[in-house]
Amino acid sequence: MLLEVRDLHVEFRTRDGVAKAVNGVSYGVDAGETLAVLGESGSGKSVTAQAIMGILDMPPGRITGGEILFQDRDLLTLKEEERRKVRGAGMAMIFQDALSSLNPVLSVGEQLGEMFVVHRGMSRKDARAKAVELMDHVRIPAARERVKQYPHQFSGGMRQRIMIAMALALEPALIIADEPTTALDVTVQAQVMDLLAELQREYDMGLILITHDLGVVADVADRIAVMYAGRIVEQAPVHDIYKAPAHPYTRGLLDSIPRLDQKGQELYAIKGLPPNLMAIPPGCAFNPRCPMAQEVCRVDVPPLYEVSAHGEPEHVVAEPGAERVSACHFWRECLHG
Ligand SMILES: Nc1ncnc2c1ncn2[C@@H]1O[C@H](COP(=O)(O)OP(=O)(O)OP(=O)(O)O)[C@@H](O)[C@H]1O
Ligand code: SF4
Ligand SMILES: [Mg+2]
Repeated sequence: MLLEVRDLHVEFRTRDGVAKAVNGVSYGVDAGETLAVLGESGSGKSVTAQAIMGILDMPPGRITGGEILFQDRDLLTLKEEERRKVRGAGMAMIFQDALSSLNPVLSVGEQLGEMFVVHRGMSRKDARAKAVELMDHVRIPAARERVKQYPHQFSGGMRQRIMIAMALALEPALIIADEPTTALDVTVQAQVMDLLAELQREYDMGLILITHDLGVVADVADRIAVMYAGRIVEQAPVHDIYKAPAHPYTRGLLDSIPRLDQKGQELYAIKGLPPNLMAIPPGCAFNPRCPMAQEVCRVDVPPLYEVSAHGEPEHVVAEPGAERVSACHFWRECLHG
């Protein structure tokens, strides 16, 4: 496995109390594989990604447990110097907002070129040629001329392509894209997503795609991890989840997707709000909002059950690396209901 996060815990100590943002997340991604991470705002998607990248805001953030294995090394035990090397060449991140991630006073050519100067020791001239090549590769028209322009002179979609080019520059083994298309128009969203998926295949990278948009996930992801209140509540191959979710929260997310064949019908919304991370409800964190909740759900935290659509799973509680898992006491009822 290229990246394996094991039982990661992250909390934020603030004046108001301790927010438990990540509470035992385990997920992994292989070379050439795309893992989509879904979940409502505040569920811990970005904090997990920041912990992997080593860019967590510390303090107030604190990693209180777990391991992050990247190419078989635990990143949490590395010295900052080694960590920086991994961050430079091994993995890269694409953010939602290219404008605030790019430097406004440097041309895009200078910024792209900088990667090659700093990490590959290239001359400025060669670095600029590489920048043009990369801009071509992410299909920015007239790259040779536009390489001299500044970020604000590009449209949102083109800026996002520049971000993708920056991320690809050193040919990382892993890219984490955190809502890479959320700020764009729908048609541009699709183009940027297609480009990202294509490059991921071309470079045989692992891709972690954090998104709110269940619509794009079906086309590009191999697996889905659904997060709720800092935990993974369901993880499975993408088609299994679309066929039949094994967690009521996943079902709620799927039912909230607008469907063309149901025009005019009111859109389903999961009732209530995500919990306060300083006071996560006892038992299953989703119980106050769950249409299937029973008494046991208010008392016992559901473990990650191994899910099997046909017959009995091999283990009741999932072993690491299980194909499909659900943190619901009633996953069977959900799956077949
Ligand atoms: N710098 C910070 N200081 C304090 N608390 C933080 C900080 N960053 C994140 N948190 C806490 O961690 C929680 C999870 O944040 P995170 O950014 O991972 O959510 P997310 O799932 O990415 O949501 P979104 O979909 O809105 O991006 C937040 O609700 C907040 O309580
Ligand atoms: S454990 Fe209970 S409350 Fe939690 S998702 Fe399952 S049915 Fe709902
Ligand atoms: Mg986020």
